[in-house]
Amino acid sequence: MARSSVGIIGTGNVGIAAAYAIFQRQLASEIVLVDKNRQRAEGEAMDLMHGQPLVGRVTVRAADYDALAGCQVIVITAGVNQKPGESRLDLLNRNAAVFREVAAELDRHAPDAVLVIATNPVDILTQVMQQLSRRPTRRVIGTGTMLDTSRFRSLLGDWYQVNPRSVHAYILGEHGDSEVPIWSGAMIGGLSVMQHVINGQRFDPEAMETLFQRVRTAAFDIISRKGYTNTAIGLVIAYLVRVILEDQRSVLPVSVNPEGDYGQRDVCFSVPCVIGAHGVEYRLAPEVDSAERRGLEASAGVLRDSLRQMTI
Ligand code: 2OP
Repeated sequence: MARSSVGIIGTGNVGIAAAYAIFQRQLASEIVLVDKNRQRAEGEAMDLMHGQPLVGRVTVRAADYDALAGCQVIVITAGVNQKPGESRLDLLNRNAAVFREVAAELDRHAPDAVLVIATNPVDILTQVMQQLSRRPTRRVIGTGTMLDTSRFRSLLGDWYQVNPRSVHAYILGEHGDSEVPIWSGAMIGGLSVMQHVINGQRFDPEAMETLFQRVRTAAFDIISRKGYTNTAIGLVIAYLVRVILEDQRSVLPVSVNPEGDYGQRDVCFSVPCVIGAHGVEYRLAPEVDSAERRGLEASAGVLRDSLRQMTI
């Protein structure tokens, strides 16, 4: 393996799920954990390091921001949790304040790293980081609807009894309630799920709407049971990190500035992008039908409203 370092800022449930997935698959030779709570980061580093004889020689260490200097990719999962009685907007303002500090540290110590933003609300915070950091915007990517798309593909795989990796379908727009399933482009083995009978099943709009609602409410359904979501987003982060480190140029739905795609330019949201060593190599704006386009416009509107209300 070429020497590669990945930084993770925030060692909460999501940061550690990402670290574990990266460690377990040996995607980097070094993982640097940074957390305000240094002891916690140290404990997590020790715990992972004890798996080295079972996994391989991946160094995990807890450190300060200056140790991120050699990292090609830095994942940001840091953020505060909602306090009782606090509005979503208050939370957003507080997380934006955290991001101000983080951006300054990262620009000082790792100005060339690609930043992967996972803290929620991910689209807004990706845009905030793009504005705060001096690095080119193509080097600031939000995990966006990669997770929703993964959920969508796994449910469709189950429905059609096919490997979800052979399902080509995207959720685009906001990572949140206004996200949009792109049914018009959903394909299995080159067949459009809307237009073809696949495994004896014709497209059933009602069943498919129910399936999409399970994707849309997945975070809520998991949080109401286990209190947080972390393992699938950890795998999403590890996948994205690998694509960047290996300069894979894979197409992934991630949160970026759409720069005019679907008529949007002043908010970050997910569109399929070719991701490589520079971050976003280029964007793709697949054709969508008119309802889907209206959905994407509405999704951008929701994000624009949140941005307008921010005081930071
Ligand atoms: C999720 O969708 C909460 O964004 C997190 O699992």
